[in-house]
Amino acid sequence: MNSFLRDRYWHLLCHASELPQPGDFLKLRWLDQDVVVASDQGNLVVFDNLCPHRGAKFFNTEYGNGPITCRYHGWTHHGGELHIPCRHKFQDAELAGLSLSTLKIDWCGDFLFASPQPAHSLDEQLGDLFNPLAAISMEIQGRHAWNAYTYQCDWKLAIENALDSLHTPFVHKDSLNRLRLSDPVNSYSGANSVARFQICDEAVLKRLKSTARLFAGTERFEGYMSMYLFPFTMLTSTFGYSYSLQHFFPSDQPQRTHFYSRLLRGSLRAGLPANALDHFFDSSAEINKTVFEEDNAICREMEFSRYSIHDVARLSTDEEKIVHFRKTLQAVQARAAQSA
Ligand code: FES
Ligand SMILES: [Fe+2]
Repeated sequence: MNSFLRDRYWHLLCHASELPQPGDFLKLRWLDQDVVVASDQGNLVVFDNLCPHRGAKFFNTEYGNGPITCRYHGWTHHGGELHIPCRHKFQDAELAGLSLSTLKIDWCGDFLFASPQPAHSLDEQLGDLFNPLAAISMEIQGRHAWNAYTYQCDWKLAIENALDSLHTPFVHKDSLNRLRLSDPVNSYSGANSVARFQICDEAVLKRLKSTARLFAGTERFEGYMSMYLFPFTMLTSTFGYSYSLQHFFPSDQPQRTHFYSRLLRGSLRAGLPANALDHFFDSSAEINKTVFEEDNAICREMEFSRYSIHDVARLSTDEEKIVHFRKTLQAVQARAAQSA
């Protein structure tokens, strides 16, 4: 089912402002294979990181700037075309039609989505979330932090943990729980879900409200928002000042999840220097990191042999998004079996 979820769904891979310069790239890993987003003269291209010559990897760092040039024999993708050194030494017929193995791409505002073989249009997959997500994308300007590691649990447990607000006072006592979040108000759009929480700690709320004058955005939700984009992506934010884009990509190894979180910066008010809120973003990234480490630590303790997507018993009202997730997976599993 994991490869079906990867191949037939759209995935939010990045924000356009993360790759502002020609040559910028970023690399993620899903099912133990790479997926790269690279700026080819300003056009974003998404591909499997494998050279069509003999399969060497183009990029070996998680992000940076450089040409899409294979380090083995110099094959280069540039301007939408493959350039092959010593071309006269190859049979013309064998090179005909060779290109990068690319994924399909589409945009929701400035968010780039990609998919190997999407079953639906991006519009259909996002449903009512398309417009709010596009609006959020317009309020983001650049990436502030990149955090990647391997969660030691199955990706489904990691996602369910991210959908679960019941654990916050227990697992995040001195981090996220400082906000004293209200019960969530949940909404659903197809397989996706959004939870909105009020911030109940008066001092924190006052501080956050007074920070509004530093930001340009107008679409912000004044609370804590957690958006789940089925199947592997979460987008969370406090007051819309920054957004944490998280991926929980399955691994081929049991009890492993390729986890990424990036802190995307909200756009600053005109006239402020670009680095004016670096300390603010640093501390947001630091708190997020603590929260993810706490989540990873508890997920590691879960016994996966007890897990079943068919089990929806013993789940509280705060865990209704998990019920929605499991029922969605049941339906996907049936579809995947049909198409196998
Ligand atoms: S494997 Fe890439 S150029 Fe040969
Ligand atoms: Fe958590």
